[in-house]
Amino acid sequence: MNTTLGTDLQQALGLIQAGLTVAVPTETVYGLAADANNEEAVQSIFEAKGRPTSNPLILHFDELGTALPYTAAFPKIFETLYAAFCPGPLTFIVPKSSLVSGLITGGQDTVAIRFPKHPILQELLSQLGRPLAAPSANLYGQLSPTSAWHVEAQLAGRIPYILDGGSCNEGLESTIIGLIDDQVVVYRYGSITPEALSEVLGYLPAAKVHAEGGVLTSGMVKHHYATQTPLFLGFKPAEEHQTAVQITIGPEQTVAGPHLVLSENASLIEAARNLYAVLHEADAAQVQKIYVEPFPNYGLGLAMNDRLLRAAAKFHQ
Ligand code: TXA
Ligand code: MG
Repeated sequence: MNTTLGTDLQQALGLIQAGLTVAVPTETVYGLAADANNEEAVQSIFEAKGRPTSNPLILHFDELGTALPYTAAFPKIFETLYAAFCPGPLTFIVPKSSLVSGLITGGQDTVAIRFPKHPILQELLSQLGRPLAAPSANLYGQLSPTSAWHVEAQLAGRIPYILDGGSCNEGLESTIIGLIDDQVVVYRYGSITPEALSEVLGYLPAAKVHAEGGVLTSGMVKHHYATQTPLFLGFKPAEEHQTAVQITIGPEQTVAGPHLVLSENASLIEAARNLYAVLHEADAAQVQKIYVEPFPNYGLGLAMNDRLLRAAAKFHQ
């Protein structure tokens, strides 16, 4: 299959309406999108990504009104969070209605829904008039894409079109939340921090980001978001100065040999925006190992440490 990279929204829309899978920009990472109401189209997402169908997909909507028929209930507290953060990088796990096929939910009776903020995707969704099912547009288990080129590098030949909407502004996947005993819980750390949620909720939501029993979200899989080059958290030892690349949050450390900086002023927001791009760059740098300075365990640092620990877990059995 020939893969075209372009900015033609009508072409992307036409392909999606014809039941094909198209990579689309979101404010978090690029998504691999198909018509959620077309079973075969949804099936082709799993095939293009090489993802097991036991891992459920997120439904993307332009607004809450369009989403409600796909849910069996939308709790009041989620309406409040929707008003505060959406459109934006927050995904709600809610009971599904019969409109949602089991292929999307991995056979579960809940569905993940989100309202992306990227203006191009907003326009695409409102012209389509129905939901897009979309996981991140990477091969299963590999680094998430934050530019059209990242998508091309992994998925060329597997999908017909990549809709280029520039670099993703947030750079980290959406925060996934659910409700347990009337309390909001975080299933995946993401762009919206627990602290930001707590300002609206009045309490810090509990994190349930590790699989207990069955794997609820693929982000809970221990090995995920991984580079090809072995990745470690910490600082490279002297004997590896030339053979390993060091990634740091800011530019202040003196590092011998290959060195990549996430943010010139050590801002966590900028570091999050650049994290995947810098990991893609490190992976292409022909070094034997990648070392990453650990982030502080608060705010966006939680989401970044989570991604890095899962990537590193692939190399530490
Ligand atoms: O920012 C994002 O959320 C990006 C963009 C493209 O929207 N999407 C994304 O999708 O990260 P994906 O498929 O890579 O991750 C979605 C996560 C998975 O961990 C999946 O298991 C979880 O959402 N998920 C989906 N439906 C679920 C459900 N019913 N219950 C629990 N987790 C669910
Ligand atoms: Mg993903």
